[in-house]
Amino acid sequence: MQDQPTNLPQTQPGGEPLKPFTQAVVERRATTSFLPDEVPEEALNAILRLGLQAPSGYNLQPWRFIVVRDEENRKRLQAVAYNQPKVGQAPVVVIAVGMKEEWKETADEVFRDGAERGAGDVNKYQEYMQGAVQFVSSMPPAVWVNRHTMIAFTTLMYAAEVYGFDTAPMEGFDAAGVKREFGLPEEAEVVALLAIGRAAPPDKVYPGRFPLERVVYSERYGEAWGGK
Ligand SMILES: Cc1cc2nc3c(=O)[nH]c(=O)nc-3n(C[C@H](O)[C@H](O)[C@H](O)COP(=O)(O)O)c2cc1C
Repeated sequence: MQDQPTNLPQTQPGGEPLKPFTQAVVERRATTSFLPDEVPEEALNAILRLGLQAPSGYNLQPWRFIVVRDEENRKRLQAVAYNQPKVGQAPVVVIAVGMKEEWKETADEVFRDGAERGAGDVNKYQEYMQGAVQFVSSMPPAVWVNRHTMIAFTTLMYAAEVYGFDTAPMEGFDAAGVKREFGLPEEAEVVALLAIGRAAPPDKVYPGRFPLERVVYSERYGEAWGGK
């Protein structure tokens, strides 16, 4: 397996410093419409590489990403995404997919590679792996792949924001249609779409969030959280 990426661009494509993560979190909006401006290949590769650094249960990485840039293909994707215009507008749309079976074939590689890197006992990795396979197999496969794929998806989304791009996450699509149009096998779970590009004005308004005291509890459900 690959090593961590070390040669990522340290500026936005225009030479601006990368956006601090806190700013990316606060300023991110689900973009409504996009300009046709391209996402340069180097930045796109950096965004994808960062996304793949996401954690997953037992490091099994059940996610797969289809990067759709070709205009015809984006139109085909738009047609199976309830015709959402941003799918056709954005220069890049990533289809995030969770594989419900494929991870079983790569588990040996994951555990062996981790052990060889010092993250486990090389002589016992198959034993650990069998425990992992048993545990993961006890969960509903769609739930399990969604959980992990969304972490990589979210990492990718914030990586794009840090590189100065705007994003739009989407669950509005016909999964069977996406699978048919993009050659996905039966076992694939289409998890979400992520459009990446530059937002067209006007800026989207902040729709607000529940305040901390409404959704954060202390120690047990319902107990007020006193933090500020
Ligand atoms: C997983 C996910 C799926 C979403 N699906 C859609 C979608 O299909 N179409 C859409 O217009 N917005 C979609 N949204 C955007 C949300 O409506 C938006 O994030 C939410 O209203 C909060 O707005 P904000 O992200 O600008 O703060 C989705 C957001 C997420 C996280």
